[in-house]
Amino acid sequence: MKTLSVWNNKGGCGKTTLAVHLAYWAEKTRRRCLLVDMDRQGNALQWIAGDEAQDLRPGAVLERSPYLSLLYSPDGPALNLPPFDVVVVDCPPGLDVADRLKPDLWIVPVDSAFAVRGAANVHADIAPSGVPLLFVLNRADAGGLRVQKGIAEALAAGCLDVWPDAIPENAALTRAASYGVAVWDAPFASKNVNGIVERFAEGMFTRVGVPAPRASKRGAA
Ligand SMILES: Nc1ncnc2c1ncn2[C@@H]1O[C@H](COP(=O)(O)OP(=O)(O)O)[C@@H](O)[C@H]1O
Ligand SMILES: [Mg+2]
Repeated sequence: MKTLSVWNNKGGCGKTTLAVHLAYWAEKTRRRCLLVDMDRQGNALQWIAGDEAQDLRPGAVLERSPYLSLLYSPDGPALNLPPFDVVVVDCPPGLDVADRLKPDLWIVPVDSAFAVRGAANVHADIAPSGVPLLFVLNRADAGGLRVQKGIAEALAAGCLDVWPDAIPENAALTRAASYGVAVWDAPFASKNVNGIVERFAEGMFTRVGVPAPRASKRGAA
């Protein structure tokens, strides 16, 4: 069982958006996924389960489909989880989370020029744990191409690992949240954005070694 944690100490940079898409992609590709919402606000749960999410008590698992279950866990990751292929954690903003989790990969969305300095701090906080850290540019074109290029250069100059395929600013991502679906099922979705988000999700599973079932050997556990 592998764990992907989506985190940044900054709010509003796309943690929930990325975490929810990782979970929906897992479901679509038939990887058994548990999405853990550690944010008290429960935005990821609300996105996927709508009103049902409101009754979810901390620690209770809601099975949405054979491939996607949800756990509201505002006080930290639950112990003794049933087995899943992958656990995706949508973290709250704040620094203490870095000490409480030890995922297989930290995914850190960054969304502005300011975020570069923040990203360097994040790196300093997390690096001692030895867990790999991957930065993902989100809303990449919101501040213009110059800003986007500046962010990418600053991240690369700091020897930070940056996902090469930036996620653009696109209203379909916000719309998807209000419809409770993934962007590829949202009205007015663009094929370009769908492809970028799908490749991002597949890339994360590949990084931590969670192959799609069709790729696994017959009889493998
Ligand atoms: N690439 C994007 N394009 C357009 N809107 C986005 C994008 N990423 C995030 N958003 C919007 O920005 C807001 C904050 O995103 P969210 O994922 O909730 O951030 P966080 O979990 O880090 O607080 C939401 O309204 C979301 O729909
Ligand atoms: Mg969030």
